[in-house]
Amino acid sequence: MKRLPGGIFDYIDGGAEDEVTLRANSAAFSGYGFRPRVMRDVSGVDTSVSLLGHRLAWPLLFAPTGFTRIAHSEGELAVARVAGRHGLPYTLSTLSTRSIEEVAAVTAGPKWFQVYVWRDRGMVRDMLRRAKACGYDTIMLTVDTAVLGRRERDVRRGFTLPPKLGPGTLVDGLLHPSWTWDFVRHEPITFANVAGSGPDGSGTAVTLSDFISEQFDPALSWDDLDWFRAEWDGHILLKGVQTVEDAVTAVRRGADGVVLSNHGGRQMDGAPAPVRLVRPVRDALGGGPAVICDGGIRRGGDIVKALALGADACTMGRTYLYGLGAAGETGVERALAMLTDELHRAMQLCGVRNVHEICPDLIEELR
Ligand code: GLV
Repeated sequence: MKRLPGGIFDYIDGGAEDEVTLRANSAAFSGYGFRPRVMRDVSGVDTSVSLLGHRLAWPLLFAPTGFTRIAHSEGELAVARVAGRHGLPYTLSTLSTRSIEEVAAVTAGPKWFQVYVWRDRGMVRDMLRRAKACGYDTIMLTVDTAVLGRRERDVRRGFTLPPKLGPGTLVDGLLHPSWTWDFVRHEPITFANVAGSGPDGSGTAVTLSDFISEQFDPALSWDDLDWFRAEWDGHILLKGVQTVEDAVTAVRRGADGVVLSNHGGRQMDGAPAPVRLVRPVRDALGGGPAVICDGGIRRGGDIVKALALGADACTMGRTYLYGLGAAGETGVERALAMLTDELHRAMQLCGVRNVHEICPDLIEELR
């Protein structure tokens, strides 16, 4: 993307190690083809769905992304405003650069909160209370980040949060004046929910990997889900589920659903593309629990495929970050419009009038 310095773009765009999973997430959608039906009067198409107590205009939600203000100074507030304008859930990351309260103030849409499990459970409890007080109704507990995946683009560049100025980054910054001017003109970016731990505005730069090794609890286990059930009376989704077995355990242990995700290819390289898990997970869980497909969605038709396989909804992550990085809030709005226009068109061209008509025989697996 032209506006972002290379190091920033790579932090957003990159994945772990050889980026096999990163590529597979999108490529896997091409493994399914449509069986479009015709002559079905698609003059009126209803793209709406119900999800965890909300009626959404599209089966789509905004995935959590860490450090969002790195793409553009408008950051999380821009994304939450767009989500709110359309009544879609915005999932705020624990590692956000705007706080739980600041985000809640700008959206009347569904507010979800992504939780990383810190060694200090008191901090987690405190964030849950703040989220509850501000009307967040669902948490996404991220379970794929015992340690940070090795994102080699970042390792190679010595990328830190916030970005450090060195000879390389200086040149990169000068070559991308619009981003640099926006970055230096605004207040320093910090982990807004966890003042005092990590980049705190004093200029301390950390690698994400060191920060996560120090702060996150690699001892996280299934018993911790009981703790979350006791602490949080809203919905709980487990994000980062990568096998049918874990999806089944998650629901048996009290989760309201799963987000099939490999963290956008940023954690375990070689993990399966989420869309490939949708059908077996839905078969194993039956109709009740929420199944959300996260990762690789780049076209409206991808959403139709995931729903045909049994997903309730899909997420956008990088898709909105690219828009944010290019043009702030306008860019996020544009990215959403592109995806939802495509979804509407794909439904019309497939001969389905509403999401209930998106069923398994609408697609076939290509060999
Ligand atoms: C943060 O969660 C990241 O994936 O960079």
